[in-house]
Amino acid sequence: MNSPSRILVVEDESIVAFNLQQRLAQLGYDVPAIAVSGEECMEMVSQTLPDLVLMDIHIQGDMDGIEVASRLRETHSTPVIYLTAYSEDSTLERARQTRPYGYLLKPFSERELHATIQMAFERYKLEVELVDNRQLLQQALDAASMGVLEMNTATSAITASPRTADLLGWSPNQPHCRDDLLSCVDAEERAEVTARLDESLAKLKRFSEEFRVLSEDVPPRWIKLDAGHASGRRMTGVVQDISARKNSELRLKLLNDSLESLVAERTIELKQCLKELEAFSYSVAHDLRSPVRVIVGFGQELIREHASELGADSIDLVNRIVTAGQRMGALIDALLHMSRLNQLPMQLRVVNVSEIASEIAAQLMEAAPERVAQVRIAPNLEAMADPTLVRSLLDNLLRNAWKFSARKEITHIDVGSKTLNGETIFFVRDNGCGFDMASADRLFGPFQRLHREDEYAGTGIGLTIVQRIVMRHGGRVWAFSEPGLGAAFHFTLST
Ligand SMILES: Nc1ncnc2c1ncn2[C@@H]1O[C@H](COP(=O)(O)OP(=O)(O)OP(=O)(O)O)[C@@H](O)[C@H]1O
Ligand SMILES: [Mg+2]
Repeated sequence: MNSPSRILVVEDESIVAFNLQQRLAQLGYDVPAIAVSGEECMEMVSQTLPDLVLMDIHIQGDMDGIEVASRLRETHSTPVIYLTAYSEDSTLERARQTRPYGYLLKPFSERELHATIQMAFERYKLEVELVDNRQLLQQALDAASMGVLEMNTATSAITASPRTADLLGWSPNQPHCRDDLLSCVDAEERAEVTARLDESLAKLKRFSEEFRVLSEDVPPRWIKLDAGHASGRRMTGVVQDISARKNSELRLKLLNDSLESLVAERTIELKQCLKELEAFSYSVAHDLRSPVRVIVGFGQELIREHASELGADSIDLVNRIVTAGQRMGALIDALLHMSRLNQLPMQLRVVNVSEIASEIAAQLMEAAPERVAQVRIAPNLEAMADPTLVRSLLDNLLRNAWKFSARKEITHIDVGSKTLNGETIFFVRDNGCGFDMASADRLFGPFQRLHREDEYAGTGIGLTIVQRIVMRHGGRVWAFSEPGLGAAFHFTLST
């Protein structure tokens, strides 16, 4: 059970005091002491720390009850109820200024006394909660370095907390108004901030703005003001300094801008270099073609026309020269083909991938009618892409699938697509010899081959072409395989 509330009685008439003590005891209160003068009251409050003081106004000593109550307000926060027989206006006014918790005119009934005490305790409890909440709010605002700003929207008068005044460069405790606030805003942004404030006031909308504050007394800083309309006549908000964030955003933006222009510069340089390199390799490849053709041609002629004069060993050597020359010729042709594809301007349109794949597959099967093959191509595969490049891409993938499954009794090739996270992924899958995934990173490099030339012929340029085509479309290409079980090549064309 709660211990009874303790009430200090200040009354200089002993009979009245005794009677009051009895009545309070009957009501369940504890009266730890009775004081007859102001001095005694101050001393007893310090000693007994009562929950409430019942104060007669006319008491012994130099101070009357009202003076004692106003002293008490300064030293203790103990609530005071006046008990008096006097009700003149001047006394009432003096008493009012001490913000009493009640004013009971003698004689009063038990019920009146009890109700007044109860009300006083209730009000006191609420006031303590209010003070606690204010403290909590202030601590939160201090921790966030925030200030408070309140504007009377009828008069435009602004009340600013010390932190707000500090942030805006205002002297504390000076009256301010809406125009003072707007004149702090950087001239460049003032018109916009004024318009937003007007709109917020007209529509009672939240106001949330970040702006630069320029004032004679503070260095330029960035402020964020968030305010809402507590009632039609009051706009209340918090002010915070966001300079650190704004400055790092600015630094980041400057850094990004300079990085972007650096990247753009380098890209132009690189593109130029690449173009020169392409042109150089094209002309080298092109110029190499005829001497290689001459070597192969004369070699073949030597065997054809002079076989009888050459011994078997010499014929074997010349044959090797011819084969190597032919291979070199094939490599040069592949390089030239790749160069040409790279230089073609892209022409994007809806491409029927299924149709192109079917045409290529038909050619492959026609060229090797002895092979048993099942080629399944999903219908209606479409892509927004360059048709010539897509044909070359599919040609290389299907040719590979066909070539590397040549030793299987029955060749199975599938062409299809699937959608993953909204992205269309095409695939070409075969049941051929496959490759070791440990070497997968070499697949797309020029002249990289994972199989021996005498097993599967080729120059090693096909997948390089595939990768370049995919990259020109902004897509990706990758592969999965298991030796002996086949390979699957996936690609996207995301343009
Ligand atoms: N479907 C596949 N199955 C197994 N290995 C493959 C497959 N596709 C490519 N490879 C491996 O990747 C290598 C590179 O392929 P790429 O198409 O670039 O060259 P290539 O087919 O050998 O020659 P080219 O295409 O220039 O005539 C191949 O030599 C082969 O080792
Ligand atoms: Mg190939």
